[in-house]
Amino acid sequence: MKSTSIPASVSVIGLGNMGVALADAFLNGGHPTTVWNRSADRAKGLVGKGAVLAGSVAEAITASSLVVVCLSTYKVMQDLLEPLENELSGRVIVNLTTGTPEDARKSAKWVSERGGQYLDGAIMAVP
Ligand SMILES: NC(=O)c1ccc[n+]([C@@H]2O[C@H](COP(=O)([O-])OP(=O)(O)OC[C@H]3O[C@@H](n4cnc5c(N)ncnc54)[C@H](OP(=O)(O)O)[C@@H]3O)[C@@H](O)[C@H]2O)c1
Repeated sequence: MKSTSIPASVSVIGLGNMGVALADAFLNGGHPTTVWNRSADRAKGLVGKGAVLAGSVAEAITASSLVVVCLSTYKVMQDLLEPLENELSGRVIVNLTTGTPEDARKSAKWVSERGGQYLDGAIMAVP
């Protein structure tokens, strides 16, 4: 049976080797995809495939209720999200950055205290 669901919009923060692969998969799946990376040139290929390049992390977060984060470390994620703590309410943050269970628990608590939902994942594959 043909699905009638509308593909969810998603924002991807962090376009390293893995973030580019994740955003590419979302685009291939038909999801309206907004991307942000510190070095904006990493987004070129994705923008060519239809991604929207956000001018700031704030723009990327507010563009979608589903936000996928894949950065080098949890510290980088925390530094980027902390100034935007008032924007997290009602959003789902999926963090695929590699870290410890303790990192994941702390991030889950921090996001939920700001009204968001948090899912932590570990990628067991190469891009
Ligand atoms: N690649 C893999 O095979 C693989 C497999 C499993 C899990 N993972 C995990 O996935 C995560 C990302 O891996 P990756 O391979 O994509 O790493 P990567 O290619 O080194 O990319 C690192 C990302 O973090 C960003 N970043 C680093 N420091 C930053 C800062 N101070 N402010 C803002 N952005 C910053 C980089 O931005 P710039 O582009 O501007 O430097 C880039 O988007 C890591 O936690 C890694 O352990 C990767």
